[in-house]
Amino acid sequence: MKKLRRRTEGESLERLSPQWRARLQEWLWLGLFVLGLVALNALQFSRTTRLTPSFLLPREILAHLMILGTLITAVYYYSRIRMPAIWQRLRWTLFTVGVILTVALLDKIIGVFSVAYQISSLSYAVPAAFGAASMGLFFGAGAGFMTNIVVSVLVSLGAPLAPVDFLMAFGGGLIGLFSVLRLSKIADLAFGGVGIGLMNIALYLAGTTLEKASIDLWAVLWAGLGGLVSALLTLAAIPIAEWATQRTSPLGLVQLLNPSHPLLAMLREKAPGTYHHSCNVADLGESAAQAIGADPLLTKVGGYFHDIGKIERPEFFMENQRDGINPHDELVPNMSKMILATHIKKGLELGREFGLNEDILQFILEHHGTSVIRYFYVKALQSGNKDCVISMDDYRYDSQPPQARETAIIMLADSVEAASRTADNGARLESLVEEAIRDRLNDGQLSQAPLTMADIEKIKLAFCETLHAMKHTRAEAYPKLEPKRPSWWTRTV
Ligand SMILES: [Fe+2]
Ligand SMILES: [Fe+2]
Repeated sequence: MKKLRRRTEGESLERLSPQWRARLQEWLWLGLFVLGLVALNALQFSRTTRLTPSFLLPREILAHLMILGTLITAVYYYSRIRMPAIWQRLRWTLFTVGVILTVALLDKIIGVFSVAYQISSLSYAVPAAFGAASMGLFFGAGAGFMTNIVVSVLVSLGAPLAPVDFLMAFGGGLIGLFSVLRLSKIADLAFGGVGIGLMNIALYLAGTTLEKASIDLWAVLWAGLGGLVSALLTLAAIPIAEWATQRTSPLGLVQLLNPSHPLLAMLREKAPGTYHHSCNVADLGESAAQAIGADPLLTKVGGYFHDIGKIERPEFFMENQRDGINPHDELVPNMSKMILATHIKKGLELGREFGLNEDILQFILEHHGTSVIRYFYVKALQSGNKDCVISMDDYRYDSQPPQARETAIIMLADSVEAASRTADNGARLESLVEEAIRDRLNDGQLSQAPLTMADIEKIKLAFCETLHAMKHTRAEAYPKLEPKRPSWWTRTV
């Protein structure tokens, strides 16, 4: 009987559409999240007041549930519409929840310490800006701002001077967020830490004045220190956050641009033609990403690494062939296609071996999408048996089309760079760019990328400008200067 009932329950869940099942799971997670936060607050209350039974009062729990439940529900709906990225993968959702819980936990630990050692001002040292800075660093300004609101409410809940706590956490978080959005070196984060500290102090002084409370110099010190700790925590958490999200921070991206990176050094040594092509693709991608407001740094790094799979068997790729020796001359078209297509698989293997995150591996996986290796398809058509049907699909890359704007840009830059090699003048260059992009569009390779037609026009213009700059003409011969001779030279000679 029990078995029968269980099966019926299972079947009713099965009957739900996958979309609704995913929604239910999300709600379950959110419910657990809210309950966890309430439990944390209740625990701190019991430890700080040393009145264990009071936190069990239904009124207390209900109040926390109402505030946190409303806040998290609002943030959930807002983020689903405006920031779908953090809901795309479970690891990104868990990272967001983890960041918020870390700040909440630190707040509670500091709260307990401040009571245990009777240092009431210690609660101003809570590194609340860590939440906004970490989220801003990996998911952009919107996610950072949203986290800042949640964290500011959390740290001020139940505090004796709640408005001051809220103001400090919110203002400090904004400075933390601004400092990571322009992050390119560690010094930026150090300045950010000083900025958060100063903002905390200013808001503490302003808040206590308005609340007509007395100013505690120790609180000023702790508030300043809280800012520095926020910046330090953000810096220390970068490697963990990169591992958890599989996204590369701007600091990590700058490191990957270094030409002495082992993979780039290997590519330069074993496949110099591909290395040169990758540098050009990176420059084209960077300018196009700037033009449409995508991430130029990520796109540039993606351009450098997209063809690292060609490190193995570089002589099979045209840009590395010298002295007219082409190993494909000895092979049937199908075999040539297979060898060319393996550079995706090999690239992914090498990328994983050298610790590249998934956001960079996406460029390797998606830069050809499922496009046709046209040269060998045509060769197969020309050389094949007329009775044997040759399918175009057999000559496609077995991969996936670009899912992001940045990977779509690199796909286009890759085909444009290859096509532009045959251009001998500006007008021809523009028509080749147009043709290469149209081919990808017509083949449906951009159907899953969030690009508009206006974006594609901007990308086209950016490519043409960059290619003109790359192929600018030089004076054929520089004028020679006569060597300067001493005045006695003409007299004696
Ligand atoms: Fe490639
Ligand atoms: Fe390429």
